[in-house]
Amino acid sequence: MDSDKTPIRVALLGCGTVGGAVAQKLTGNAAELAARVGRPIELVGIAVRRAGRDRSELGLDPALFTTDAEGLVTRADIVVEVIGGIDPARGLILRAMEHGASVVTANKALLAEDGPTLYAAADAAGVDLYYEAAVAGAIPILRPIHESLAGDDVRRVIGIVNGTTNFVLDAMDTTGAGFGETVERAQALGYAEADPTADVEGFDAAAKAAILASLAFHTRVSSADVYREGITDVTASDIRAAREMGCVVKLLAICERTSDDGGTEGISVRVHPAMIPRTHPLAAVREAYNAVFVGADAAGELMFYGQGAGGDPTASAVLGDVVAVARHHVSGGRGPGEIAYADLPVLPMGSALTRYHISLDVADRPGVLAVVAQAFAEHDVSIETVRQQVVVDEDGEPGGEATSHAQLIVVTHMAPDAALAATVDALAALPAVGDVTSVMRVEGS
Ligand code: NDP
Ligand code: HSE
Repeated sequence: MDSDKTPIRVALLGCGTVGGAVAQKLTGNAAELAARVGRPIELVGIAVRRAGRDRSELGLDPALFTTDAEGLVTRADIVVEVIGGIDPARGLILRAMEHGASVVTANKALLAEDGPTLYAAADAAGVDLYYEAAVAGAIPILRPIHESLAGDDVRRVIGIVNGTTNFVLDAMDTTGAGFGETVERAQALGYAEADPTADVEGFDAAAKAAILASLAFHTRVSSADVYREGITDVTASDIRAAREMGCVVKLLAICERTSDDGGTEGISVRVHPAMIPRTHPLAAVREAYNAVFVGADAAGELMFYGQGAGGDPTASAVLGDVVAVARHHVSGGRGPGEIAYADLPVLPMGSALTRYHISLDVADRPGVLAVVAQAFAEHDVSIETVRQQVVVDEDGEPGGEATSHAQLIVVTHMAPDAALAATVDALAALPAVGDVTSVMRVEGS
């Protein structure tokens, strides 16, 4: 039993959406947290950018606030960084570690850009670096992968890790509306930020995919290694096409063990929209919720579901880390650091095995299906299903003289992404093909 009751000093960097909730819970639940840790946890200061901002609604002691973040990090045992972005967050974290503080952060952008530097500094200082909140908000997913599954072999992690894009795609599916107007609605409801670029272009999900892949495959993966497509090109007709196939469109982060054509073992890490069957558990993830599927050799399939953003849900994950790190402070020892021994190559997107759903507007005349099928065969892509819909012309006659065209919908079997992309290029160049109206990857079946 530890008889030392010296408070563990916590410094908070940032007091916005996440920091405000963390500060309130640290102070409001102080007695409970002390009982769980074995020593009191004392919030010694909160660094912010704007000193004069009215924060009275948080009910915190005004004396806690400072704009001297550099000074604050030198007088803490644990530094919680919830400023976000690369700088000054990185410099403050490194300075905190140099002064012997463990660090808890929610900063996926920094971890995915420069995680190894932070881990090396934590090792050099003998302190902890915890970041459960960086991926999927409240959902405990990083420690399950890093620790609970440490004795198993993770093969695949596939998830919906961005709430904003899930809200937008879900609303497009429900209302039939287009991308632009749905983003505006999401902004009005407070789900999308005024500048939604990081979310809708997939940068946020790519940073999270890099973190998930690093932990799952014991390999350094940075944001730059992640193949990324956002949802800005997803149209109402893509969503309709998915619906007709019994599918829904989701922005997926996919991390998997794989090998290329030459048999080189590696990993594929990618973020892109994909159709998934409505019967797939990830299809049931609605609104701004997140979910992550993990497939491991011995454990089989595991699914984690919950709120991926917001002050209170994210604070839950941050405080779980604070308690874990504080317990190490009391008992001695550290949590696991970076484990990157596997050092697997991140294979290019072209060698990822995927399936495509392709809609084509084609001339409705003899031999067209044969030339289309030939384009697939030339790229060694096998067709799983093909469906033709007669296009009703303006004169109201199916396949009438005026236009004589049809909609062909092809779903492929699994093939290297490069072969599928080359097939689409070849199709677009065929005289019989008027337009490639929709191309989307298919996952989960
Ligand atoms: P906010 O923008 O709401 O808050 C940022 C805070 O950092 C503000 O209090 C701001 O001060 C402060 N700050 C900014 N620059 C400085 C500086 N140079 N020195 C000191 N303080 C500074 O961000 P969030 O709370 O939304 O996000 C914080 C982190 O959590 C990010 O890394 C984000 O990716 C991550 N995260 C966020 C989630 C969410 O739902 N919001 C979910 C999961 C992770 P001031 O108040 O004076 O402007
Ligand atoms: N912008 C992110 C999202 C916040 O929409 O999921 C959580 O990281």
